[in-house]
Amino acid sequence: MERRALLKYSLSGLLAAPALSSIIRDNLGARSEETSDFLSSTDNDESYWELVKKEFDFAPGLVYFNNASLGPCPKLVVDATNHYRAMLDGFPSKYMWGAWQEDKEKTRAKVAEMFSCDKEEIALTHNTTEGMNMIAASMDLKAGDEVILGNHEHTSGTACWQYWQEERHGVKLVRPELPILPESEEEILEIYKNVITPRTKVISIVHGTNTNGMILPIKKISEMAHKQGILVAVDGAQTAGTFKIDLNDLGCDFYVASAHKFMFAPKGTAVFYARKDSQKYLRALVVAKGWKDKSIRRLENYNTRNLPELLGQGMAVDYYNLIGADKRESRMRDLKAYFRGALDGDERFAFKTPAHDELSCAIQNVEVVGKKVGTVKQQLFNDFGIDCRPMSSHGLNGLRISLSVFTTKKDVDYLVDALKKV
Ligand SMILES: Cc1ncc(COP(=O)(O)O)c(C=O)c1O
Repeated sequence: MERRALLKYSLSGLLAAPALSSIIRDNLGARSEETSDFLSSTDNDESYWELVKKEFDFAPGLVYFNNASLGPCPKLVVDATNHYRAMLDGFPSKYMWGAWQEDKEKTRAKVAEMFSCDKEEIALTHNTTEGMNMIAASMDLKAGDEVILGNHEHTSGTACWQYWQEERHGVKLVRPELPILPESEEEILEIYKNVITPRTKVISIVHGTNTNGMILPIKKISEMAHKQGILVAVDGAQTAGTFKIDLNDLGCDFYVASAHKFMFAPKGTAVFYARKDSQKYLRALVVAKGWKDKSIRRLENYNTRNLPELLGQGMAVDYYNLIGADKRESRMRDLKAYFRGALDGDERFAFKTPAHDELSCAIQNVEVVGKKVGTVKQQLFNDFGIDCRPMSSHGLNGLRISLSVFTTKKDVDYLVDALKKV
């Protein structure tokens, strides 16, 4: 019955998605006689989220708290992507070289709508690493120019600057240290403000850190930077899909995000945003036919590429919209409060993620005091089937717990119980 209910609500959303390819709609529509509006309903109780979880096909026994490493695709996205793959293999040259042009543009438009920007500001790339490389390789910097990179930047947001600018051109990378538990956005803003000099050209900054999930104040930093003619490049790998992101409002120049984490899109898909008046700074990483295109499409031109996955990314945005941005965000905040509340006051545990909603969302880092995180991680997996990521950089000794739309409160109870046993 659950499977039936799930199928019904999945299909209702599918059929309601106006921009969906009619081929996909017809194909998946044939799987059920009825539709319902379950997913997009206003229901928000645990039974709703239990059903959402069933859309994800996890390995038996696995309890997944590792979405920040890599997200799963819901069945709807798996089905759509498989379908596109079969179409491509049925007539490869047709679909790779033109027949999907319109569908590709629909995906771009859906992504743009999700992030409140114009579709001419979105390129569809493969991952965050590639996007950050494209930005770092594009900048026309000189020896002695400075790029600010906080100490919690991911390797993908760091190595690219080291390789393309520091080693080649003698650009100085300035590495301010962020506290693990900042009290406010202003505290973080002040740290960035204090390292800006007349030679600062770019602030390359992560929106949500992969270490402890703290959210950095991109809007405030962008406002400050732009007053001084500094460009702002944002790594949104850990934030896209967790809460509502309005890129117009954030005001940064570039925003790069892996769609295969919290957006649940197929692996090897990403979002690359460049504000209209900042696109002039960018050069494509790969040069192919179409390189003279003046539009943002010149940045995603790889010739033969993973189009079924790219179109599957469009379905992931449909899935995002079916639940709804507000509902997803409030669920993340609810789960976070539920998880933190369950360990609150227990001295065997210490949260290494700031509690304030302005400063954290879906990722919470928790230390089992007095135990090595590597050992705890292994125990959780071996004895309880729980997968999460141990974090021991930056003085951390904590488990990175990712909460997601497929996380139920029962899962959180199970995790808390396992932590207490460990
Ligand atoms: C903050 C951050 N940036 C970039 C990346 C790299 O993402 P991708 O492998 O999609 O390029 C990750 C991966 O975990 C990340 O957490």
